[in-house]
Amino acid sequence: MRVLVTGPSGLIGSEIVSFFDTRAEAVVGIDNNMRADFFGIEGDTGWNLQRLRHTTRHFRHHDLDVRDRAGLTAVFVKTQLQGRAYRIFGYKGKRSGILSTATTSRL
Ligand SMILES: NC(=O)c1ccc[n+]([C@@H]2O[C@H](COP(=O)([O-])OP(=O)(O)OC[C@H]3O[C@@H](n4cnc5c(N)ncnc54)[C@H](O)[C@@H]3O)[C@@H](O)[C@H]2O)c1
Repeated sequence: MRVLVTGPSGLIGSEIVSFFDTRAEAVVGIDNNMRADFFGIEGDTGWNLQRLRHTTRHFRHHDLDVRDRAGLTAVFVKTQLQGRAYRIFGYKGKRSGILSTATTSRL
């Protein structure tokens, strides 16, 4: 199983990464630390990304905006996610990113 997590440096995404890291052959994360843009230094999730890098075995981070279709395509090809079946978990707030991700993965 290969897992794609959007927002892996955040509160929920980082827990999902930790959960799947012991269960999946690969955990692909896409996060551009947009939270720091929104909230300034107090909102920076870089510390959580560093923590995940030190505590996981199968997690690989990609610094990318989830709305970037061309960038997503490149990540999907590079990580061999393309052409596989996906179940998308998400919330309204990430709608454009989820749609972009789903379209890229040809759901
Ligand atoms: N935390 C909760 O209790 C809760 C409850 C209900 C719904 N939600 C929703 O779940 C989602 C995640 O919540 P959270 O608490 O983990 O948020 P969070 O702010 O802790 O994490 C979100 C992560 O997504 C990244 N991100 C934001 N925009 C991005 C973009 N365009 N491209 C790439 N990365 C981007 C941020 O940098 C951050 O690391 C949000 O949509 C939130 O509204 C959260």
